Amino acid sequence: MSVKISPSILASDFSSLGDEVVNITQAGADYIHVDVMDGHFVPNLTIGPDVVKSIRKKSSLPFDVHLMIDPVQPYIEKFVEAGADIVSVHPEASDDTETCLNKIISLNVKAGLAINPDTEWEVVKPFMDKLDLILVMSVHPGFGGQKFIPTALDKLSNLREEINKSGREIQLEVDGGINFENVQSVIDAGADMIVAGTTTFKGGPSEYANNIEKLRGHKIGY
Ligand code: DX5
Ligand code: ZN
Repeated sequence: MSVKISPSILASDFSSLGDEVVNITQAGADYIHVDVMDGHFVPNLTIGPDVVKSIRKKSSLPFDVHLMIDPVQPYIEKFVEAGADIVSVHPEASDDTETCLNKIISLNVKAGLAINPDTEWEVVKPFMDKLDLILVMSVHPGFGGQKFIPTALDKLSNLREEINKSGREIQLEVDGGINFENVQSVIDAGADMIVAGTTTFKGGPSEYANNIEKLRGHKIGY
């Protein structure tokens, strides 16, 4: 089995976002990772549901929508209506996590929990029966192009064990600072879904397929 690649469009050329979504789809991506930031939960502003709705027409891949916003609950439905297939929320946001997950589930899309570098992995435990995905942040959320924080590796190993114990099919995604050099280490630690912005979009459209192949060319070891 090989890992799934979810390119973060944060690193794409926003002046031709629709074309970038087409390019990355044709290049063999498995998902489209959409980073939603509000300038409050994280110190950066990115895109909202209208943009998601408009690029939705450009790809049939599942949209993996990472909500770094607070409040988050009032916006979940808007992102699902816009075309999200997976919605991940942060327990560090002030809305009640269980209520948010229930909302996502009630809208018939996949529910993810994204955890920051300073958050203990055990935070997922009460929610295991609701989750389809756990997203381990390997940088502090807010910006692409940051350096990988190695403490994510232990967190991934612990979560892989917890997922295996649960017997549920929960994807284990890692997000931030992934490159060709460190991708094998996150896979060995248990990740089966890789977010990569800078590394995927490096070199322009002619390189996307090659970049994705190089990220994917690693085998899952668990
Ligand atoms: C950071 C975002 C990441 C980011 C990844 O807050 O959640 O998805 O765009 O970008 P790279 O791969 O450049 O670290
Ligand atoms: Zn992200």
